[in-house]
Formats: sequence, C-alpha cells, structure tokens
Amino acid sequence: MIALKALGLTPRNIITWHKNNAMPSMTKRSFTHSCEYMLYFTKGKKWIFNYSELKKINPDKTKDGSEKQMRDLWIMPVCQGKERIKDKTGRAFHPTQKPEALLERIILASSNKGDIVLDPFLGSGTTAFIAQKLSRKWIGIETDDKYTSRLQKRE
Ligand SMILES: C[S@@+](CC[C@H](N)C(=O)[O-])C[C@H]1O[C@@H](n2cnc3c(N)ncnc32)[C@H](O)[C@@H]1O
Repeated sequence: MIALKALGLTPRNIITWHKNNAMPSMTKRSFTHSCEYMLYFTKGKKWIFNYSELKKINPDKTKDGSEKQMRDLWIMPVCQGKERIKDKTGRAFHPTQKPEALLERIILASSNKGDIVLDPFLGSGTTAFIAQKLSRKWIGIETDDKYTSRLQKRE
C-alpha cells in the first residue's frame, strides 16, 4: 500500500475474499485462515468502475429481490472440481490457481472490452484465460516455465 501510494495511486477498497471451503487449521491453536485481500487502487480521476455490470453479477440481492451494489466482501470457494487443472499424476497443477469467478469479477469491474489487463504473476493463467473470454487483451509475466508452457492448452 505504501509503494502504491508513493506512485500516486489512490486507495479505494481492500476487498476481502472469504474462502468458504478453506482448509482446516492443522495446529488447532489459532483461527483458521480463510481470507485473502485485494487492494483496489485507482490512478487519476477517470478510472473505470463498472458499477452496473457488478450489480448484475452480484449473487446477493436486496430484500425485494432486485440487484444489489457489490460489497467489498466476496464469498466464494477456492478453485476446485473440473476447473482445477491437474498434472499427469492427478495432482493440482498450480498450488494457488484462482477461481475463474474471482478474476471475472475483478476484470469486469475495472476494464472494458478491448482494454489490456496485466498480470505480473500469471501462474496457471487464470487472468489471461478470463481476460480473453471477456474480450480483453492481456499481458502475463511468469517466472516458472512449467506454468507458461501449458498456457496455450488452457480451456
Ligand atoms: C499466486 S501465484 C498466481 C496464481 C494465478 N493467479 C493463477 O490463477 O494460477 C503467483 C505466481 O507468480 C510467480 N512468480 C513469483 N515471482 C515472480 C516474479 N518475480 N516474476 C514473475 N512471476 C513470478 C510464481 O511462479 C507463481 O506462479
């Protein structure tokens, strides 16, 4: 946060992703970790925030069943099932593959069709995959060849 502020960006939200299927704590001597945090910073005065689109995809509804503003608490499970990429031995291909729904929300919130999305820690490529699906261009950086080599095959 200090670095982003020093670069002249403005903090807007700290979004909490609550993983409602988080692994139980092994030690049983502290609270179980079940959250990750996302810093939502903007630059300049004309940032993109697709308010109406976020309302449309918000699973929470108001009491009368109509669309609700997206809150900064996002409850969704860690990547699992068919979506989770497996290696040849059937183990998870990437230890921290993010859920597609999470990236969908982030990219829809902060970009428009044709925009470029940058992920400097691409991993299994969830950002690139969803950016493409949502008609955005993308740039991904990943240090481990094991992950980049499989990117083309992601579907
Ligand atoms: C948290 S994972 C990203 C997971 C990704 N969002 C996904 O859905 O698969 C972070 C990734 O950053 C990569 N990484 C770590 N340091 C890096 C660096 N200096 N430059 C580029 N990639 C790096 C790691 O190899 C790892 O795959």
